Amino acid sequence: MKKEMEQLGIILLVAGQGTRMKSALPKVLHPLGGKALFLHALETARGLGPERVAIVIGHGAKAVQQACSDGDIRWVTQEKQLGTGHAVSCAREQFAGFDGDILILSGDVPLIREQTLRSMVEHHRRRRATVTLLTAQLNEPKGYGRLLRDAEGTLTGITEEKDASEAERQIREVNAGVYVVAAPFLFHALSSVGNNNQQGEYYLPDIVRIGCGQCKTVEIFNIEDRREMLGINTREELAFMEKNLRDSINKKWMLAGVTLQDPDTTYIEEKVRIGKDTMIGPNTHLKGKTVIGERCQIDGNAFLTDMELGDEVWLKFSVVLAGSRIDRGAIVGPFAHLRPGTHLGCNVHIGNFVEAKAAHLGDGTKANHLTYLGDVTIGRDTNIGAGTITCNYDGFNKYKTTIGDRVQVGSDTTLVAPIALGDDVYVATASTVRHDVPSGALVFNQREEKVREGWTEKKRNQMKGNKK
Ligand code: UD1
Ligand code: MG
Repeated sequence: MKKEMEQLGIILLVAGQGTRMKSALPKVLHPLGGKALFLHALETARGLGPERVAIVIGHGAKAVQQACSDGDIRWVTQEKQLGTGHAVSCAREQFAGFDGDILILSGDVPLIREQTLRSMVEHHRRRRATVTLLTAQLNEPKGYGRLLRDAEGTLTGITEEKDASEAERQIREVNAGVYVVAAPFLFHALSSVGNNNQQGEYYLPDIVRIGCGQCKTVEIFNIEDRREMLGINTREELAFMEKNLRDSINKKWMLAGVTLQDPDTTYIEEKVRIGKDTMIGPNTHLKGKTVIGERCQIDGNAFLTDMELGDEVWLKFSVVLAGSRIDRGAIVGPFAHLRPGTHLGCNVHIGNFVEAKAAHLGDGTKANHLTYLGDVTIGRDTNIGAGTITCNYDGFNKYKTTIGDRVQVGSDTTLVAPIALGDDVYVATASTVRHDVPSGALVFNQREEKVREGWTEKKRNQMKGNKK
């Protein structure tokens, strides 16, 4: 058990709407790097192993809660957004009896690093501070709260841009909006914060003035990399940050031995893993928990979500793949669609205009053209002819198809599920198969073939006659 003083709590503020996004969606739900904006700061702060985590929600509260799978959150609702100070005081009850420090963060500042927060908390504790502020020196401080100091250079408080005098606006030392505060002081100080200012809001930074006035130890922690404190207010800033994030992820993979033909059009999400000497072509999107083996080739125009690829897989141009596994040496595409639950064995070929869903294809099996494989298990070295359809749905239920090893399914075949074809079956072209077929059998539909000589010429003449 940690000493009470060393306990850490987190308060994440996300109640604001983010009006400048001009969106029906709350700002903190706009995706960045494949996840909701506020989850970045939350996950980073989680890394510090806090005892309690509270999130203050307001605008789009329900949607924000739904976007968060973290089960250990104390949700706090701020009905009216009366300011950052008011927002924090809404979390008072959640920290009843809590004697440690509280780290306060905003949900719209996503790049803050765990190490920065850790160092800041350490600094706070080393100095036995009551309040520690994250600060920076900016050449363009516009929009930020400015640090006020007296003639001796001692910190006295913070003024918001809108309340600042012309002279105060020249101050380049700014409040980054991240705080570590001793919990008892925090809530006590907040109860005396007023809203007599330009915005009529209860300002959290006012606790600095209160702390200084009570001769508490108020420390600053200067941020090394100012990009970490960048907040998102507009869609333009969001796109800019997305691009920066993308660039750094791409750089990491190139340094790890992956070729990106066109990094500007390669979109790799944070959790993706890629093996060495894999080549990735333009307009490739790798999303979710996708894992790609070594020496794979992705030609381009590829959209992969939660995929697992073994080594030496070749994805030809234009594929949409999700929730599936592809084993070593398989070839997929061009223009193929794998839906969740599919597993392609080693050296499987899936060609153009083939869609597979919950399909298991054994090693060396091929389905090269114009085919739908749904809810099917196929053995090894089987060949599925062009235009084969597994009819897995009767409008009410889904049914399974099973096909054995070394089966030859002729072109234009419909397999009406539930159905099982044994090993070494031959399905004649243009068959509709409704019943199980034993191993080694040929199955075909008898149809008389008729030929009418001279039919075309007669037909054309007839049609011409009609036109007159
Ligand atoms: C705040 C600081 C400013 C600092 C800047 C750094 C205040 C008054 N000012 O300004 O000194 O330089 O951050 O980025 O705190 N929120 C609520 N409820 C509210 C109001 C805000 O939950 O009633 C949330 C917002 O959703 C946001 C965060 O608090 O996540 C910060 O609020 P915001 O309005 O963006 O404050 P800034 O003007 O950026
Ligand atoms: Mg802000």
